[in-house]
Amino acid sequence: MAKQDASAPEFWDKRYGERFMPWDAGGVPAALAAFLAQERRPLRVLVPGCGSAYEARAFAAAGHDVLAIDFSAQAIDLAREVLGPHAGVLRLADFFAFDPGAPFDLVYERAFLCALPRSVWPRYAPRLAKLVVPGGRLAGFFFWSDEVRGPPFGLAPGELERLLMPWFERIEDKPVADSIPVFAGRERWQVWRRAV
Ligand SMILES: C[S@@+](CC[C@H](N)C(=O)[O-])C[C@H]1O[C@@H](n2cnc3c(N)ncnc32)[C@H](O)[C@@H]1O
Repeated sequence: MAKQDASAPEFWDKRYGERFMPWDAGGVPAALAAFLAQERRPLRVLVPGCGSAYEARAFAAAGHDVLAIDFSAQAIDLAREVLGPHAGVLRLADFFAFDPGAPFDLVYERAFLCALPRSVWPRYAPRLAKLVVPGGRLAGFFFWSDEVRGPPFGLAPGELERLLMPWFERIEDKPVADSIPVFAGRERWQVWRRAV
């Protein structure tokens, strides 16, 4: 597979290896912190394309049962350092191919859909629909842009709805105030519920 193909782990290995990670927030976004603060019961959570895994660490520290996957071995090495005592939540795995064992209550999205070439997007929602329990949620940050080249590959207006419906219905949609520069003004926090 070509080195410039974002659907190949080598593309991401190279960037993590060089510590060139303009998408990395180096911490937990405010909307996720607020979400974690209001969740009352432990959830089974999947973090696909976890990268350096600050959010996976926050889910684990809050008592949730987390599986954080990434298909880049370099990302997993970095995440292991960030997760410290919670490193057991990590798995080197491809989102489209791994065996989850059982479906999840929640999938956390940040900079994962926009990391996938647009040609791969039609596979995203059907795969999520299999990974989330009926009534479960997809929560996180989504990125809009008409820039042809990526990553990040941005959504067009109405495109997220076309991708996720009818498997999911949107139940929350908020602007984001603490975006890092690559996403600033072009991302929103949204929560989608899996149809029962
Ligand atoms: C832009 S980075 C975002 C990382 C992290 N979510 C964050 O917000 O910092 C995208 C990540 O998705 C991973 N990735 C891309 N396609 C994947 C796939 N099919 N399965 C698992 N991980 C994948 C990449 O290796 C990379 O770590």
